[in-house]
Amino acid sequence: MRGVFITIEGGEGVGKSTQGRELARRLRAAGVTVLETREPGGTPAGDRIRDLVLDPAAHMAPVTELLLYEASRAELVSAVIEPALERGEFVLCDRFYDSSTAYQSYGRGLDPDLVGTLNMNATGGLRPDLTVYLALDPDHGVPRATTGGADRIEAEPDDFHRRVLAGFEAIAAAEPDRVVRVDASGDVAQVADRVWDAVSSHPAVGALLNGFW
Ligand code: TMP
Repeated sequence: MRGVFITIEGGEGVGKSTQGRELARRLRAAGVTVLETREPGGTPAGDRIRDLVLDPAAHMAPVTELLLYEASRAELVSAVIEPALERGEFVLCDRFYDSSTAYQSYGRGLDPDLVGTLNMNATGGLRPDLTVYLALDPDHGVPRATTGGADRIEAEPDDFHRRVLAGFEAIAAAEPDRVVRVDASGDVAQVADRVWDAVSSHPAVGALLNGFW
């Protein structure tokens, strides 16, 4: 049986990595095999793209930036995500195409049709079964993300991060069956419980965890 594809999304400093690790731990404790990966990155080519696209010294046009994220995505889907899903594993991916919609379309102002077309081509039409969107105001998230210095995207001004937030909110409102919006304010354990409630009760996951797999 084909595996389940879960993505985690949100703005800067919302706790995606921490919550992703905890979600993977709980899924494993429930008895499933989980592959954790992230975007940009997750492959040798993708890791090099990540270094370039996040380098504060690298200046690039918005469309260059979009194409780099899409290149990393195409490689990750074909080399890592699709094979794992075919093996029947759960795949937990820190960011996916919703980030291109939120950052490059809403944030940078690129044509949503262009971003949508490239998302479709890079993924071969692969859609997450479930997306956990961690919602947090950039006033809280951005300072948390940049305490050790800001990368090229984190260093963008407040209005950029507000447009990205509006993008994620719009995606969540447009696709409520796929995207679960989780309040990411509060302490780590509280948010982890909210994430687990959302994931374990979702139709794409709940039945499998209850022993039907
Ligand atoms: P992060 O994975 O550590 O959050 O860093 C990735 C950064 O890249 C983050 O600022 C969001 C940004 N990003 C985009 O702008 N577009 C994308 O498609 C993806 C995957 C990430």
